[in-house]
Amino acid sequence: MSQDRWAAVERYFDGLLFPPDAALDAALADSVAAGLPPINVSAGQGRLLAMFARMIQARRILEIGTLGGYSGIWLARALPAGGRLVTLEVDPRHAEVARHNFARAGLTDCIDVRVGPAQETLPAIDSEGLGPFDLIFVDADKARYTEYLDWSIRLSRPGSVIVVDNVVRDGEVVNEHTTDAKVQGVRKFNVALAAERRVEATAIQLVGAKGHDGFAVMIVKGT
Ligand code: SAH
Ligand code: DHB
Ligand code: MG
Repeated sequence: MSQDRWAAVERYFDGLLFPPDAALDAALADSVAAGLPPINVSAGQGRLLAMFARMIQARRILEIGTLGGYSGIWLARALPAGGRLVTLEVDPRHAEVARHNFARAGLTDCIDVRVGPAQETLPAIDSEGLGPFDLIFVDADKARYTEYLDWSIRLSRPGSVIVVDNVVRDGEVVNEHTTDAKVQGVRKFNVALAAERRVEATAIQLVGAKGHDGFAVMIVKGT
């Protein structure tokens, strides 16, 4: 019952707030056609990420976990002229779909897709001096979330905003005996977040067509 209701409410707000959007709709359709998993953020979440970017007038955005570029389109569209999104993806097939989706959305010039394991591309981004980033969206392999938290802070400046997806995992995050490696990764991350003195943080549960999950949202106090 609750799952049906959550899905119905998502459809209701999608109908009210998110009219068809050629680039976003095609990005999802092509992602499905290419066999990518349907684990992109929802439209409402994409809009929220874009609004965070606009609220802080983000000029440099970093995303860890591109998939087919759905969240990337939302983020890149929020950039001012001359702004840049750097998005990291380990799977070359995903990156290829994303590049095509970014091109169709007219966003090629403001998006830098880096293919490779983020644990390798993050140090490269650091040494190239591409930061500090104003907004960072972490949405890749859950087992490395604690590492990505540390990198995100290192690539930030005081006032940067960091958003981390999937910190609830159908509520399994409260199960200390979980054998699911992704949930274990998120649980370790949540504990690290609680101990992290360099950020002010909150965690918000979200429900919708894809179930129950959540965002951790933080503001960097110091790096
Ligand atoms: N942000 C996307 C969804 C990302 S899904 C959206 O909302 O549209 C998670 C992505 O992280 C997948 O494409 C997966 O291939 C990628 N990923 C997994 N491990 C990774 C790693 N070590 N480095 C970079 N990307 C990784
Ligand atoms: C998974 C990953 C995600 O980033 C997400 O939003 C939902 C599910 C997954 O790996 O199962
Ligand atoms: Mg996610």
